[in-house]
Amino acid sequence: MCGIFGLITKRNDIPVATIIREGLQRLEYRGYDSAGIALVNNGKIELRKEAGRIDDINKNGLFDSMQGTFGVGHTRWATHGAPVAKNSHPHMDGNGKVAVVHNGIIENFQQLRKELSDRGHVFTSDTDSEVFPHLISEFLDQGKDLKEAVMETIKRCEGAYGIVVCHADTPDYMIVARKESPLTIGITPGETTYCASDIPAFLPLTKTAYILEDDEIAVLYAGEVEIFDVLTGKKRERSPTEVPWSIDAAAKVMNGREYKWFMHKELHEVPRTLKEQVNAPLEDIDAFARAIMEADHVYITAAGTSYYASLAGKFQINKFCGTFIEAILCSEFIDQLPTLPHKTCVIAVSQSGETADTIEAIRYAKEKYGATICSLVNVVGSSITRYSDHIIITTAGPEVAVASQKTYCAQVTALTVVALRIAELRCDMDMKEIAKYKEALQKTADIIESILNNEDKIQEIARIFAKEQNIFFLGRGLSLSAACEGALKIKEISYNHAEAYSAGEAKHGPIALVEYGFSVVFVGPPDETYDRLIGNVMEMKSRGGKILAVVADFDTKITELADYTLRVPIENSKYAIAMSAVPFAFPLQLMAYFAADYNEFDPDKPRNLAKSVTVK
Ligand code: F6R
Repeated sequence: MCGIFGLITKRNDIPVATIIREGLQRLEYRGYDSAGIALVNNGKIELRKEAGRIDDINKNGLFDSMQGTFGVGHTRWATHGAPVAKNSHPHMDGNGKVAVVHNGIIENFQQLRKELSDRGHVFTSDTDSEVFPHLISEFLDQGKDLKEAVMETIKRCEGAYGIVVCHADTPDYMIVARKESPLTIGITPGETTYCASDIPAFLPLTKTAYILEDDEIAVLYAGEVEIFDVLTGKKRERSPTEVPWSIDAAAKVMNGREYKWFMHKELHEVPRTLKEQVNAPLEDIDAFARAIMEADHVYITAAGTSYYASLAGKFQINKFCGTFIEAILCSEFIDQLPTLPHKTCVIAVSQSGETADTIEAIRYAKEKYGATICSLVNVVGSSITRYSDHIIITTAGPEVAVASQKTYCAQVTALTVVALRIAELRCDMDMKEIAKYKEALQKTADIIESILNNEDKIQEIARIFAKEQNIFFLGRGLSLSAACEGALKIKEISYNHAEAYSAGEAKHGPIALVEYGFSVVFVGPPDETYDRLIGNVMEMKSRGGKILAVVADFDTKITELADYTLRVPIENSKYAIAMSAVPFAFPLQLMAYFAADYNEFDPDKPRNLAKSVTVK
């Protein structure tokens, strides 16, 4: 949560303020309730910050007209203090010399604030972050240089931080540091150095990057970087890495086509993502599979969309491997599991790799009970990977739209690949059968391609449901995952109230709401749940429900009962049907996108949400 972008350069022919503003806009998916920039100019810091989105704040060039040779900006998702100008970052010390941006939460800020206030510091915001410039300024007054002052400061701060510090009197460098909040560094050697919360923010400028680790501090000179261990103060030698992502990841363009929204573009990336995911490195899959097989107890944990992908993954691992895996929301993990048994394996699923609740769950499992941690994440080098024994990286590439969609498809596919690998390793299933399931999984990319080629049909249906006040999403077995994902997506980006239930559970209460015209979406692949689902469709139909069903394109029975259908072009074989999780969820993701667009909402930045949720 919160986006940071800074730069320091030797070039005097580039518009520093505009480049920082554009970098922040590429990070707005991390937070967008206020923004600010601080630039160092001739021994002074110029600071501008306001509530609102960057485009609105900069309408009359408020940011772009700033003058300065280097500096840093911030786009905020409020935690401590309302989203108003005074709480926006950067924050300054009392002398107006030190400017700091911060992403994360300082847990002992009240105590630090009290101590500093008692010593005469005057605070101008309600944030935890403001303690940074005041503490740094105290250490500078004691004669320390800027790097030492920042090191001393972060030793006093408990909690999570990614920070960038600029000082009016040190025109040659700025300082960055991190602990449990992301911070990456981009570089054009010998010329310009950037820092940002996420790599895509500087991708259009450079693909050469350093990933800062926890408890590291870096001195950023123009085109040069020095990294130090905060605890020992020792310098760490590190070479930069080349980021394999395309520059298009930061733009709404793919294969020459310009999309209106990132979400639409990213949904169109799903076929590519799936093709790559089924061919992910076998050694990573193997390590995952063996860790699950060796454990006596296996939990899969995640939040939101990643949790719904985990429901499908759990189903596939249980089905193909006869193992029992329990899915548990990461925010409930510690409360529901006050002790963990011996030989536990925890699978953590996360797009960002930074979700605070997921990190807390796996740290608890690992540090307290010695659990083996297998993580499935989309961001290389993210915090979750640091607490993991085995890692699979999903092949979705950068996902800019706040609501996850292509990563859901990648996560479900990766977990299905793991399930089939366990089945192979256990040798209790016919290898030819497994090969046919794998072939069916390979073909899901083509199914998605074909759905995308006919997306007009989904757009029409989306318009019919876009204004609904309430929608139920129902599915059974494997399809509960798709129902949950469909409901979450339309709720968060199109603001329709939607609830997902097991179709069998709906008669135990939710059905009380159903009357003439009440919208009910069924996820109805022709699997072992199909006949029972027909009964559930009839229950809703007979009470006047307006039924939309996602069905196979050879379907007849549910089609006869439904008012509308979304037809999925899958083969009528048990292998293809067993791989229905992604093909039957995808039309609902696309429908949510079209509903948001029809309702004229911004699907990329839904209100109150941020891409990585780094608070508990
Ligand atoms: C919904 C969505 C969120 C995330 C959740 C977990 O579209 O994106 O529900 O899935 O916040 O985030 P990650 O996957 O980054 O751990």
